[in-house]
Amino acid sequence: MDLFENGKVVKVCAPMVRYSKLAFRSLVRKYDCDLCFTPMIVAADFIRSAKARDSELTTTYSDRPLIIQFAAKDAQTLATAASLVAPFSDGVDLNCGCPQRWAMAEGYGACLINKPQIVKDMVRHVRNQVDKPNYAVSVKIRIHKDVRKTVDLCQKAEAAGVSWITVHGRTADERHQPVHYDAIKTIKDSLRIPVIANGDIKNPKDVQAVCELTGVDGMSIKMTLQWTAVALFLYIEIGILLLLCLPFISAQRWQMIFSLNIWNRVAWVWKRGFLAMIIILIVLFLDAVREVRKYSGAQINKESKMYPNMIDHVHMKLFRSQRNLYISGFALLLWLVMQRVIQLINQLAAAVNTNSALHVQIEDANKAAKRYMEETEQLEQALKDCTDESKAEGNERLRNEVSQLKQELKTSAEALNKSKSEADAIKKQTEALAKDYDHLLQNQMKLQACTEIEDKKDI
Ligand SMILES: Cc1cc2nc3c(=O)[nH]c(=O)nc-3n(C[C@H](O)[C@H](O)[C@H](O)COP(=O)(O)O)c2cc1C
Repeated sequence: MDLFENGKVVKVCAPMVRYSKLAFRSLVRKYDCDLCFTPMIVAADFIRSAKARDSELTTTYSDRPLIIQFAAKDAQTLATAASLVAPFSDGVDLNCGCPQRWAMAEGYGACLINKPQIVKDMVRHVRNQVDKPNYAVSVKIRIHKDVRKTVDLCQKAEAAGVSWITVHGRTADERHQPVHYDAIKTIKDSLRIPVIANGDIKNPKDVQAVCELTGVDGMSIKMTLQWTAVALFLYIEIGILLLLCLPFISAQRWQMIFSLNIWNRVAWVWKRGFLAMIIILIVLFLDAVREVRKYSGAQINKESKMYPNMIDHVHMKLFRSQRNLYISGFALLLWLVMQRVIQLINQLAAAVNTNSALHVQIEDANKAAKRYMEETEQLEQALKDCTDESKAEGNERLRNEVSQLKQELKTSAEALNKSKSEADAIKKQTEALAKDYDHLLQNQMKLQACTEIEDKKDI
């Protein structure tokens, strides 16, 4: 089953009576064949005779993966044959496609496509009886003229736990007519298990063409596409989130990156791409919810109890759908987280910018305040210095002036005294002079009188 999980086209060597024996299988395995079938072995003969077993089945350890094809018409015979070959093989295939008259007459091969209930029972019996995990049970069918009958058969086989279905795209009556690939596609689209297309595939180009026409291994492709889409988106989201959370890229740097012109140019594609991805994720999520409900429903649980080996099959389906559910849900959640992180980074960057602008303003204000304070201090100091100095100076000056005045006063007093003395002296002199003058005047007058007397006497 793992072969169908990796999304590649599984190349199968079809069962061919007389041809696909060990030597042939060993040969085709050398040419990139993924899975080999043995030729059809009649299960009833196989369990009945050791001789038949020895001649019909030869294998080696390297002859894997190997599917043993049986022709059977009842469930128990097939289950017994499967138990016998289980240790040497990877699965059994029920032939519901052999159109040969002898086979149809015996109730083998293509006549089984009209007996869906028997096919279902045979699949369930093998599942119940072979105690080997992952042991495959497949059927190979031809199509009905009415493809709805084939779809019904396949869905019943699927519900019984068949691992995959090989569809030969011809009816039981057709031999070399063109293969009805449209019918294979219809069958493929109605099932969730892998479908192998068969008929008219002769070379690698045919493989590609048939794949495109029918979508076979489409199941594995569909699962892989789902998985790839979700996982890809998830990884992209995780990558972006990791980048966004890198510690050495600051919020401002991110904002610079977000504001780059290139984002405007790719915005159209980016937005629509994201929208498409989100829609795909929601669809995948809903599809996964539907599948989880389907495979964990009461009906399945009931059937699982009746057919214990179906549990593996249902569990696998459930596991896949749950995986897709969780991954798509997680991807959706991460998308929301990513949007929020981008928003927060923008807000953080804006806050950091405002903060740094405020910081600068505060620093400027601080510097200005400091400068003002310094200047005030200087002024105060200057004022203080100025007051003290001028006071002292003034005092000194006053003192000087006072002493000067005193000195001047003293000098003036001295000068005054001196002048007074001088004035006294002058006064005295003046008085003395006045006296002298009076005296002189008196003398003169006496002299004059004398003179006059003498003159008179002369006369
Ligand atoms: C010689 C031969 C033997 C075959 N034996 C078996 C067989 O044992 N079991 C089976 O399911 N199909 C058998 N087939 C059918 C092939 O597996 C296959 O379905 C068929 O060849 C595909 O159709 P095509 O030949 O038109 O390409 C056989 C085909 C041939 C040619």
